[in-house]
Amino acid sequence: VEGAIGIRVHDSPAEVAHAAAEVFADCARAAVKARGVFRVALSGGRTPKALYHILASPAYRDLPWSEMDFFWGDERCVPATHNESNFRSADANLLKRVPVIRDRIYAVPGCGDAQAIATTYEKTLRRVFAGDSFPRFDLNILGLGQDGHTASLFPHGKSIAEKERWVVASYAPEGVVRSRITLTVPAINSARRIVFLITGGNKSERLRELLEEDFPPEKMPARAIAPVEGECTILCDKAAAARLSST
Ligand code: 6PG
Repeated sequence: VEGAIGIRVHDSPAEVAHAAAEVFADCARAAVKARGVFRVALSGGRTPKALYHILASPAYRDLPWSEMDFFWGDERCVPATHNESNFRSADANLLKRVPVIRDRIYAVPGCGDAQAIATTYEKTLRRVFAGDSFPRFDLNILGLGQDGHTASLFPHGKSIAEKERWVVASYAPEGVVRSRITLTVPAINSARRIVFLITGGNKSERLRELLEEDFPPEKMPARAIAPVEGECTILCDKAAAARLSST
């Protein structure tokens, strides 16, 4: 995994968010220039909020917002208005503040059985990414959970082993909303660009393990992430990098 992952250590979470905004902007401009569309899978959790606020600022108003398709790498099985909804977080902090085309926001359906939601979302992805063996996102933004999960691929969960499906149901071992859906490992690894946003001292041991321990994906799902044809970069702050031997 280490060979496939680059790492950039920044002084603060704010600088990580600014660096992530620049990656987002570069990927968006390149994708629209090359293919007329930028397809991005957004992450949930707290870390991306600082990125969303920066992208919503005037500095990024000239991005090709109307040429972008928005997806989620994982979602909690709750209505879009629910406080725990990853859609709601991205919509409130970014999408409502920039000139996107609302029909090009592919939110995960919010209600019902997780398996049914996963099947429905996979159908949507297969329609948009028609012809791809796995969805070729231009950018997939990921976080790292304190237990080593990423998206909603949790340690010792069945979802990690899934090699055919693009989207599956999963079950969070803790948290307010346990019932989730998630992109599978191959559906994440098909991206052109993957960026992990990792900040805070509470992630330092996990980040050390991600880069310096040979844990199997069952124990640390984030170790399964390595783009097949693409680039993966960790954007982290000094606090998260504190235990790394190589920086
Ligand atoms: C989710 C996220 C999840 C998140 C990590 C890190 O739905 O919760 O997609 O994978 O990225 O849990 O979360 P923080 O950014 O809040 O630390």
